[in-house]
Amino acid sequence: MGLELKRGHFQMMVKITFSIFIIIPKIGLSFAADFLGMNGSISHGETLVSSDQIFELGFFTLGNFNMSYLGIWYKFSPDTIVWVANRNNPLADHKGVLTFNNAGNLVILNRLNGVVWSSKSSRILQNPIAQLLDSGNLVLWDDFVLSSDETYSWQSFDYPSDTLLAGMKLLLNPKTGLERCLTAWKSMDDPSTGDYVHRLNYNQGLPQFETVQLNVHRKTFRTGQWNGVQFVGIPNLSSPAGVPLFVQSETEISFMFEVHNKQLFSRIKLNSLGVLQLLVNRSRTATLNVKLEFPSDPCDFYGRCGANAICRCSLCECVKGFMPKSPDKWAVGDFSSGCHRTIPTNCSKGEGFWKIKVVKLPDLLEVTLDRRMNLKECKDVCSKNCSCVAYANSDVRGGGSGCLMWFGDLIDMKALEGWNRVQSLYVRLSASELDATRDHTGRNIILVAAILSSIIGGLLFVGATRWSIKHKKRRIRIGGLEITKEDIDLPLYDLATIKSATSNFSIGNMIGLGGFGAVYKGNLSTGQLVAVKRQSKSSMQGLEEFKNEVLLIAQLQHRNLVGLLGCCIEGEERILLYEYMENKSLNYLIFGKTISFFNSLLNNDILS
Ligand SMILES: *[C@@H]1O[C@H](CO)[C@@H](O)[C@H](O)[C@H]1NC(C)=O
Repeated sequence: MGLELKRGHFQMMVKITFSIFIIIPKIGLSFAADFLGMNGSISHGETLVSSDQIFELGFFTLGNFNMSYLGIWYKFSPDTIVWVANRNNPLADHKGVLTFNNAGNLVILNRLNGVVWSSKSSRILQNPIAQLLDSGNLVLWDDFVLSSDETYSWQSFDYPSDTLLAGMKLLLNPKTGLERCLTAWKSMDDPSTGDYVHRLNYNQGLPQFETVQLNVHRKTFRTGQWNGVQFVGIPNLSSPAGVPLFVQSETEISFMFEVHNKQLFSRIKLNSLGVLQLLVNRSRTATLNVKLEFPSDPCDFYGRCGANAICRCSLCECVKGFMPKSPDKWAVGDFSSGCHRTIPTNCSKGEGFWKIKVVKLPDLLEVTLDRRMNLKECKDVCSKNCSCVAYANSDVRGGGSGCLMWFGDLIDMKALEGWNRVQSLYVRLSASELDATRDHTGRNIILVAAILSSIIGGLLFVGATRWSIKHKKRRIRIGGLEITKEDIDLPLYDLATIKSATSNFSIGNMIGLGGFGAVYKGNLSTGQLVAVKRQSKSSMQGLEEFKNEVLLIAQLQHRNLVGLLGCCIEGEERILLYEYMENKSLNYLIFGKTISFFNSLLNNDILS
């Protein structure tokens, strides 16, 4: 399963054509070789093209600068640069040349013959060949060495820029510390090393991917740890656009993906804003599909709800038994202070654990892992150690195994949904808290609702602080207003589920159209009929409405009235799912009569 691609039959072909080897400039006949032989060179305007015309290698310039770089791009989409050789050492003019040095390494020379960049061949090559493969890999090998299972002495796939192509590996060697990660460009037109990296973290022997903003030493996103089947916090990535392969051994932990459909050209890119994107081009066109982005949901932002809080459908809520450290800040949408225990735990009698189902487990900051323990043993050990805050299985396979225990704050939890293998977290609670949950007697809960307007753009926060007074009679406080309402509990649906329920938002399924967007009739895989309200992407007004509506969801009476089932926030999509009620529900779904009633109740200035 290695990346050590074999040169095999290429060698034969090159031997035959070697003597007629020639490079034709780009402007000439559209024909270029896919390899460079010992005495060959490439200067500005000349390129190598992979044999199936998929990738192209050459010098390029960006933006308004005169700087030039050697890179690889899709032949069908020259703006899509997937690899840059001299990203931190650009040529100041268009006089660069790619050729070989005496040791057989590829070198980029500037106009004064100074070496700007060099490949790092593992050995000296007598008869070097550089070849651009259809995978986008630029490989170097020695035509003098005849053994056909000789591996490449250098390949560009070992030096990723900001893009992971199929067959390329992100990896970590726990023994040597060798690491291959994605490093973002500085900006869209500056390929030099930027602020963000996406890398494997291997804390406690459990791998997870993280995006880190290096200049401020801050994590911005993590996938959640590998649970034997998938990374817990992101959807299972398997699709025609890419089948992920994860390898874990003593000397290598690595991730790569393969594409089995020849019409799809997929790549994973860390853009200059630190957003990880799964991008797919179809059938050799520049038309691009962004399949997935991380972070995209507000709950993907690392540690958004602070310590000991769970992000659910854009709402931050303290874990049971915890309350906001500074309720005033929470009320205005500043969650960073997080939550602390309402009643301290001290290993006293009657303490137990509260189960949180289907959750992206907290970050592996202060944790221990014992793969041999089962859940029962894990509970016993955790309950005897007073500083153990929570525990969970580390692996979901075969009904679950392994013991993860947390000893500090629980950071970066997110409520997940059906697409995830169930992985529950058990949090220590005091005896009285446990009793309280059994009796349904009053306790302090403060929930804050917040919606993010765009991925990186301005944050539109809305705060809603609520207190429970006693059973069945609770007040919700939004700004200065108070309304008696019941519990917040809004399930999250993923876009794929909704798409399949509505035949990909087909016209045939559309049952209404309003200013905010469209309503579709959908059929969930459970057989339940739903009305899907999809906010149109264009209107800011729609976003505002959505914001209001989700705020209103905080009130169960309203939710029951319209039969709201859940929501979906993915990328730019803002979708609400309602029970499908023939005719009845349509009026307020489309014309928003109920909504405007509540809007007038909650006047707008406290919402913005
Ligand atoms: C609790 O667990 C931590 C981490 O394994 C350990 O360092 C500590 O000694 C344990 N405390 C007790 C009382 O066993």
